[in-house]
Amino acid sequence: MFVFGNSLYDPGNNNFLHINIKYKANYPTGRCSDGLLISDFIALHVNLSSWKPSLEPGLKTSFHLWSQLPSASVACLNIERQLSFIKNVVNTLRQQLGNAEAKKLLTNATCIAGIGGVDYEHFEPDYPNGTESTKLEYVNWVIGNITNVC
Ligand SMILES: *[C@@H]1O[C@H](CO)[C@@H](O)[C@H](O)[C@H]1NC(C)=O
Ligand SMILES: *[C@@H]1O[C@H](CO)[C@@H](O)[C@H](O)[C@H]1NC(C)=O
Ligand SMILES: *[C@@H]1O[C@H](CO)[C@@H](O)[C@H](O)[C@H]1NC(C)=O
Ligand SMILES: *[C@@H]1O[C@H](CO)[C@@H](O)[C@H](O)[C@H]1NC(C)=O
Repeated sequence: MFVFGNSLYDPGNNNFLHINIKYKANYPTGRCSDGLLISDFIALHVNLSSWKPSLEPGLKTSFHLWSQLPSASVACLNIERQLSFIKNVVNTLRQQLGNAEAKKLLTNATCIAGIGGVDYEHFEPDYPNGTESTKLEYVNWVIGNITNVC
């Protein structure tokens, strides 16, 4: 199961992001919740007993942003960065399992994406007097930005 999305879907990457970020989860699990997330419930439903944040050190397919970007403290994993992670995962799987096995595993995987919510949350504060046409423009903008990186 591969999950893309915002804090509502994050199983703990938040704990590995820069300490001073505004939206620190403040729960030991790194989740922005004192309980389970939508993605946790889905994982439970399909009997995945454990699934991990991709930034967790020690995961075979984890990504050590600290070493990649020693001077830049990462405060946010935007969709572009998340997509670069999945590309790395695919490459790692191909190296470890070979193309055929990697393909099997990937075709059997489920992808979940929950994106856009945070973008739309910013509309009201950014455009307090937004009109219908401003809203439409904004929606096209968000969709355009997502489309550009996919
Ligand atoms: C998950 O495990 C339960 C209990 O073993 C089983 O009844 C259920 O069919 C399993 N679900 C899936 C999606 O494999
Ligand atoms: C996908 O997973 C199911 C359940 O484990 C398995 O029976 C099936 O052979 C898998 N398919 C592929 C293409 O690996
Ligand atoms: C929005 O409209 C209100 C009332 O007309 C006005 O007082 C305010 O300055 C406007 N805000 C902006 C950012 O244009
Ligand atoms: C999103 O799209 C707008 C309009 O095309 C552009 O100005 C902005 O830089 C884009 N933002 C990102 C993060 O790509």
